[in-house]
Order: sequence, then structure tokens, then C-alpha cells
Amino acid sequence: MARHTPVMAVMVAAARKAARGLQRDFGEVENLQVSLKGPANFVTAADKKAEKTLFEELSKARPGYGFLMEEGGTIEGSDKSHRWLIDPLDGTTNFLHSIPHFAISIGLERDGQIVAGVVYNPISDELFIAEKGQGAFLNDRRLRVAARRELANAVVATGIPHIGRPGHKRFIAELGVVMNEVAGVRRMGSAALDLAYVAAGRYDAYWEANLAPWDLAAGIILVREAGGFVSDLNSRDDVLNSGGVIAGNETIHRELAKALKRAHAAS
Ligand code: IPD
Ligand code: CA
Ligand code: CA
Repeated sequence: MARHTPVMAVMVAAARKAARGLQRDFGEVENLQVSLKGPANFVTAADKKAEKTLFEELSKARPGYGFLMEEGGTIEGSDKSHRWLIDPLDGTTNFLHSIPHFAISIGLERDGQIVAGVVYNPISDELFIAEKGQGAFLNDRRLRVAARRELANAVVATGIPHIGRPGHKRFIAELGVVMNEVAGVRRMGSAALDLAYVAAGRYDAYWEANLAPWDLAAGIILVREAGGFVSDLNSRDDVLNSGGVIAGNETIHRELAKALKRAHAAS
């Protein structure tokens, strides 16, 4: 059973409050699919509303903490040790297309280290939480990363660049190597949930490039507290700044990192 420390209780309450708005708005998006303009502007408004709720709730509970938010950017706090890293809606394109796979992601950084994370899918009501040294949980059930040790038996998630995003050639080289060495590749459209699914043992591994700190912060601690390994694409501990990530159990993480290195050397 997850024991919510005071700061985790604050994070969960803020996520659930913002989720109520996203649940309502997600229902509306399905109706707007058929409208001439489509739901794009509506989704942007939903995204910003969720972020406003998170900012208000977390500021009230922990005045002085700084913020790094996808929509609102950086807000310096008087407490220089603590910073929230927030993605109010990770999986925007899914939300826009009425695909029920998106999440609120809240990471808490203390003196440069991620110490707590929440990833919450309001549609599936799956609440992934983790705090440093306290373990990782899904709806209060403790999580462990998958135990598979053979890449050939692994299902691996990733992110595929699309129009307007960098890295097309590099990704094709990576996929060309990885697809020949794994049991399956998945691209589901939410980096925060991809990392949460690795923590839950649903995916054996995950890799992606060109992510933002708010995509990654909460998922990093989920995987680590579930006994997994998270590194940047060079197997170093510079995930947030580099925007590249490899996650999995120790063996699979190492094997996937080697496969990606072969892909980069050949491209
Ligand atoms: C995106 C999702 C997606 C990833 C993109 C991110 P957003 O976040 O996490 O899975 O591949 O790189 O930008 O834009 O939906 O918050
Ligand atoms: Ca995101
Ligand atoms: Ca987002």
C-alpha cells in the first residue's frame, strides 16, 4: 500500500483536481471532431486550464517552490532548492484525436535531483506515483520493472518524430536496428506514460530523443523506484538536459543502449 507523504498528497490532490477538467474537456473534444475547425483551439485551452489549476494548487500548498511548465515556462521561486516540472497534458495529439491515452505529469526536483513524481491518466484512472526511497505504485499497488533479460523477448516503446520535429533520419536508423532485435515496438504518444509503463512492467524498455524536462521528470523516478535503470542516449545520467532517454531493467537497458549505439555508428 502506498503511504502518501505530505508532499505526495499535495501532488496527487493537484493532479486529480486538474484531471476533472481534462475529463470534461475530453468528452467535448469527441463532439468537436466533426466541427469544421476541429478541436485544436479547444484542446489548447484545455491544456492551459489544466496547467493553471496545477500551478494554483501547488503554489498554495508549497509557496516559494519554482516552476518549469510546458505552457507557462519558468517561474523562479524564493525556495531555490525546489522546483516543480509540469506537463499538464502529455499526449496532446492523442487528446486532440479522442484517443484516451494521455496524462498529467508532475515531477518534483530537490537540489537538482528528481525526488517525487506523479503520472495520472484521467480516463483510465491510473495513478502512477513514486518518491525517492519509497517505491513506485500504480493505484497503490507496488510496481517492479519487467524481469525479462532477452531483448528478443522484449516489447519496447519509443517516440516517432513527425512533421515539424527533428531526428527523422536518426530514428529510422535506430528503428532499423531495434526492430530486428525485439519482440515488438510500440509508439503510444505519451512519453510520461511510456516511462510509467516501463515502471509497471508493461513495456520492457523505452527510448526516445528530443524530449523536454517536463516530459521526463516524473517518469524517471517511477522507473528508478520500480528497480529500473534510466539514462540518456549515451548511457549517462544527463536525461533532463539532453532530452534523450533509455529506460528498462539493468540487462535490457544495457542491451538496448548497445543496439542504439550500433545504429548511430552505422548512420
Ligand atoms: C509529446 C508526447 C509524445 C512525445 C513528444 C512529446 P506533448 O508531449 O510525450 O509521446 O513523442 O516528443 O512532445 O506534446 O503531448 O505534451
Ligand atoms: Ca509532453
Ligand atoms: Ca504537453
